Amino acid sequence: MRYSLAVPALAALAAALPAPQLIDLDMVAAQPNISYTTTASSVTYDVTSLAAQATDDITSIPVDLSAIATQSPLAVIEKRAACAAQPTGVSGAYAAPAEPTDDTVSAFAANTAFAAAASSAPVPSGYSNTFTNLNASNSAYGYMGFTTLSSYDTDKCASKCNAINGCMSFNLYFERDPSLEPAAACPNPTSTTIIKCVFWGGPVSSSNANNYGQWRNKFQVAIAGSNGYMNQTLEVPAGFGNVQYLNNAAINAPLDHEGYDTFMGSRIFTAGPFNASLCAAHCQAQNKYNIATAPKDGTPPKICDFFNTYLLYLNKTSNSQGQYCSLYTEAWDSSYATNKGQYRGNDHYMIEYSYTFTNTSNPGFNPKKGDTVGAIYQAVKDIKYATLQPFCSAALSYSALVATVTPTSFVTPFVTSTAFSTTTTTASIDKRAAVTAGSASLSTPAVLSKYPASVMSSACSLLVSQATSTSTSTAPATIISVATQTTLETSVLTVTASAIPSACGNKGIQYAFYGAGVYAEGNNVLWVEPSNYATKTPNWQSTTNSVGGINVNAAQSIQIYDSGNYAPSEYFILNHRGYLFAQIAGTYTFTLSNPDDIVFLYLGETAKHGWSRGNAAAAASWNSDTGFQSTATATYTLKAGEYLPYRIFFGQMGGPVKFSFSIKAPDGTVILDSNTSESDFIVQYSCDGTTAPAFPAFGKE
Ligand SMILES: *[C@@H]1O[C@H](CO)[C@@H](O)[C@H](O)[C@H]1NC(C)=O
Ligand SMILES: *[C@@H]1O[C@H](CO)[C@@H](O)[C@H](O)[C@H]1NC(C)=O
Ligand SMILES: *[C@@H]1O[C@H](CO)[C@@H](O)[C@H](O)[C@H]1NC(C)=O
Ligand SMILES: *[C@@H]1O[C@H](CO)[C@@H](O)[C@H](O)[C@H]1NC(C)=O
Ligand SMILES: *[C@@H]1O[C@H](CO)[C@@H](O)[C@H](O)[C@H]1NC(C)=O
Ligand SMILES: *[C@@H]1O[C@H](CO)[C@@H](O)[C@H](O)[C@H]1NC(C)=O
Ligand SMILES: *[C@@H]1O[C@H](CO)[C@@H](O)[C@H](O)[C@H]1NC(C)=O
Repeated sequence: MRYSLAVPALAALAAALPAPQLIDLDMVAAQPNISYTTTASSVTYDVTSLAAQATDDITSIPVDLSAIATQSPLAVIEKRAACAAQPTGVSGAYAAPAEPTDDTVSAFAANTAFAAAASSAPVPSGYSNTFTNLNASNSAYGYMGFTTLSSYDTDKCASKCNAINGCMSFNLYFERDPSLEPAAACPNPTSTTIIKCVFWGGPVSSSNANNYGQWRNKFQVAIAGSNGYMNQTLEVPAGFGNVQYLNNAAINAPLDHEGYDTFMGSRIFTAGPFNASLCAAHCQAQNKYNIATAPKDGTPPKICDFFNTYLLYLNKTSNSQGQYCSLYTEAWDSSYATNKGQYRGNDHYMIEYSYTFTNTSNPGFNPKKGDTVGAIYQAVKDIKYATLQPFCSAALSYSALVATVTPTSFVTPFVTSTAFSTTTTTASIDKRAAVTAGSASLSTPAVLSKYPASVMSSACSLLVSQATSTSTSTAPATIISVATQTTLETSVLTVTASAIPSACGNKGIQYAFYGAGVYAEGNNVLWVEPSNYATKTPNWQSTTNSVGGINVNAAQSIQIYDSGNYAPSEYFILNHRGYLFAQIAGTYTFTLSNPDDIVFLYLGETAKHGWSRGNAAAAASWNSDTGFQSTATATYTLKAGEYLPYRIFFGQMGGPVKFSFSIKAPDGTVILDSNTSESDFIVQYSCDGTTAPAFPAFGKE
């Protein structure tokens, strides 16, 4: 199939999107540098080895090469004897000046006959003119040899290019050449003018026309009247179509609508002409391999239905790195062509001549709808990798049985079928009902947030049922500590698990101390406005595992928690903050009792932003003039796996200091009070950094 290359305008580019794939510059850098012996007049590429190159990284799939003819190897250049006569060039207006003293490079450059010929040359049919009358020849991609002509004839040059398989463009110019092979005995012979027609397998442009000639002994080779032409027809690989021209940009596909990663990998070809069929061959070989080695668990193999191939160059188009080839399972339109190059240190890798091709009989899923099955199996992998089975249990509302087990008795991850066989006789959970029960208020782990809820539920269901049949898991013990299961008469097992949050040095409570020098409430701390402390830098800050438990008489020196910091027992503020992780679903109770002087509790978003005297979830004070009682409680209902931000703001003025606080789980367990040594459920932030993000610095909240 032929495709006409009437350089189409690029559609408006899409807004910045996540980029799951980039040009693999390490792979590019690992390739040998491309160099061509451009003095060879004819060049043939071994198509068999190029075809093998298109498939060689896909091991164990034999590629049938028998249909591809082997071609002869690269032409050998004869060594020229010193001062041997060289081919005679053209005569007439283009000939070198008769007088040897006039035979100079500047005279050559000044000869208007060259410019006149170049400027008036007709554009051969089927070609486009890319530059005219330069004093340099091209260094393009895929050198394919040259021929000399007796006249500056673009049509003749084009017909020779047409006869060469893979010739994409040509460069026609006048070259000032020596009449003898320059050597010690004849360092600067008289010149002769050769009209050269050079063939390339990649685009020629003014930007890669940067070969201004060279010195051969004392003779200077120079170039004039250099024109470039490109064939406007591109060979489209059989079975592919819907060609898109992306010019100098490559596809940078986001995940599809279902969260599926459609990217399949890349490779680069560094020999022969630009040839879209090399990338097509790679696509097909990869498909064969993926089908032959498809996982047995139902994961659909990735099938390449779309590829993007282009020329990659470094800094300038004359420094071609090869033909890049990226495979995808779905066809992305040109609005996703957002990669216009990348840096590797100072090296700027850029793109030209970028095309996409789509399998005409099977274009794959529309990325706007997405590959649901692919996404579900991909999510299963993510869940296993990040050990998010406990989240799945919670998301599917499988946590109802958790409260029957005491957390301390667990050392192993998913408990085996015998461990709790006597703890419960609850009937099986209706899985379908549970799935639709959904997880509206559960915060989704970051790694799963790319999936729609339906995909996530299906993936979770697959996994939880897998857990049912195997009843063992390789999850690390720190991740899953509570598990329970029911054994039914029918001996169907349902495993349900609840989590402790993963640990990463994040346990405890952060608090800030405001005392002498900073504390600025006058002596009347009863009327403190907690919001003022959002932007006040503390004297110092630390972390603690317990809260409250302060109870001393006036005017002493007290240690604040176990910080080692002592302070006068009068006139200070303690501002605590952190997250409570709900190990089990239900209502948690927060109690403030008998403070001297005053304590405020904030829960949820208010604990992070906008807390103030007037909006506490609970507040207590010894002095009822404040409007607060001596004891106050607040409750908060959480789903299993949820993190709740909290803030406890305590103020002490003169006299005795007293402060106690507690959090009780729905089953009555005390999670936090002044005797807590260290709790898995009281954390400063979540390890993933996003579910429960770290608080800003004290004083900058
Ligand atoms: C390729 O060329 C660059 C300079 O352009 C050089 O630094 C590098 O070592 C070369 N690589 C190989 C494999 O020859
Ligand atoms: C251009 O390239 C195509 C495909 O390689 C080739 O068939 C054709 O002969 C070339 N010349 C013209 C004028 O299209
Ligand atoms: C090529 O042309 C440019 C400007 O047209 C000029 O500056 C440069 O010196 C020329 N180079 C040679 C080698 O003639
Ligand atoms: C392009 O690649 C295909 C597949 O390897 C091969 O059959 C064909 O001959 C190549 N064309 C050129 C011009 O090299
Ligand atoms: C296009 O896709 C179909 C279905 O997957 C496949 O059978 C066919 O080989 C593909 N065509 C090409 C050219 O790869
Ligand atoms: C590419 O250009 C940058 C900046 O001009 C330069 O530092 C770097 O060495 C160049 N790389 C090559 C391989 O020429
Ligand atoms: C903490 O432990 C001490 C000593 O066992 C006990 O007297 C005190 O009542 C406990 N405090 C709370 C809040 O349970």
